[in-house]
Amino acid sequence: VTIRRATINDIICMQNANLHNLPENYMIKYYMYHVLSWPEASFVATSTSNVFDDEDTTGQGGAGNEEDCLMFNDPISGNSIKLDPTYVNPGEKLVGYVLVKMNDDPDQQNEEPNGHVTSLSVMRTYRRMGIAEKLMRQALFALREVHDAKYVSLHVRQSNRAALHLYRDTLEFEVLSIEKSYYQDGEDAYAMKKVLKLDE
Ligand code: ACO
Repeated sequence: VTIRRATINDIICMQNANLHNLPENYMIKYYMYHVLSWPEASFVATSTSNVFDDEDTTGQGGAGNEEDCLMFNDPISGNSIKLDPTYVNPGEKLVGYVLVKMNDDPDQQNEEPNGHVTSLSVMRTYRRMGIAEKLMRQALFALREVHDAKYVSLHVRQSNRAALHLYRDTLEFEVLSIEKSYYQDGEDAYAMKKVLKLDE
């Protein structure tokens, strides 16, 4: 598995992985906004192996495979569009991503520069191998080095034990507050923050 910067050619696969792994989904233009505005900050994990993927219901090699990545599913309109194959990187399967931005909320212009983790996920077969931790560490490093981010924030579901463990125990984020009914289904979120130090 290779960790590398996400490019505009990855966003269809990132959206596919997100649709598989999380109920919080975004329009393709929101992925583009991240990758084009802060091209150094988002990362993908890719694999060239063809190991059996337990999310693969089609028998074709998993949610991040080339065939899937040629299908652009717009979660808003419900339309499914077949793309030109030059949109995907041949032979590579996307197994994880972290989608990251700087906070550009005009209401917070007086704040120190700070980053935000919009979405992180790893395909089921590839979990518990340290991939999410690596993706996050790369993103945190880039936010600090490239964008001078002083801290980074994110939201996570209260019931999401794996992610909470990763953020709080492995990456040492602190819980800032509980945001009631943050998610569309009414679940509360932990708002989390990590100060980015120079020596990490
Ligand atoms: N139970 C408890 N702790 C876990 C679990 C788990 N199932 N999975 C990961 N962790 C914690 C552990 O502390 C682990 O360290 P350890 O291996 O030393 O015990 C640490 O996280 C790092 O684990 P990784 O192997 O790097 O994590 P992984 O690659 O498996 O990905 C992730 C974790 C992203 C949460 C994955 O389970 C996933 O994709 N889940 C579905 C999507 C999701 O919930 N994404 C996060 C939403 S919040 C947001 O996007 C801002």
